[in-house]
Amino acid sequence: MSAPKQITLRVNGSEHPLLLSPDTPLLYALRNDLGLNGPKYGCGLGECGACTVLVDGRAARACILPVGDLGQREITTLEGLGDLAAPDPVQQAFIECQGAQCGYCLNGMIMTVRALLNRKPEADEADIRRELRGNLCRCGTHLEILASARRAVELEGQRRTACAPAAAPCPAATGCATANAARAPAPEAATAATAATVDTVLASTLVRY
Ligand code: FES
Ligand code: FES
Repeated sequence: MSAPKQITLRVNGSEHPLLLSPDTPLLYALRNDLGLNGPKYGCGLGECGACTVLVDGRAARACILPVGDLGQREITTLEGLGDLAAPDPVQQAFIECQGAQCGYCLNGMIMTVRALLNRKPEADEADIRRELRGNLCRCGTHLEILASARRAVELEGQRRTACAPAAAPCPAATGCATANAARAPAPEAATAATAATVDTVLASTLVRY
């Protein structure tokens, strides 16, 4: 590693001057120096997608991005997308469709879908599958994740046309409503499960891996 020097990272709309070796992977700076735990450490080799962030709106793997290469580029993490009061359409979709099991992969799934919608708001099934092909989920939650991505396309369209009725229920056509109905828990359990998923999806930050 080369000697530390002053490096300013632009993250979630703010500038952060840090003393870092230029070789430091962006993921380390985000998690260790800025306390942003949305991006996860999975493989550390650019192969699983758990660490995905947006760099100038495009998906990038933070575990293999040296901070010295970023310059003035704008970095967005899961924490920068939205919050409980105003979730990003992709976050809202994953909550509605309960697209989580352990949640470890979700940061990467959500950020990758966000990058796809930035580029192609009306993404179709083939686009979604192609985009998510490089994101691994060890829990086998793929069907719920795909349903969440389809729902994200719908919510993104509603937001972009600015005529969205807020939080319309997830239609069965997306697949998740049917899947969730089949395994519906008791009402109190459902409330707890939804709250847990909201925590996992919106903060991945609350999952302190
Ligand atoms: S941790 Fe970065 S791709 Fe796996
Ligand atoms: S790795 Fe557990 S939900 Fe994907």
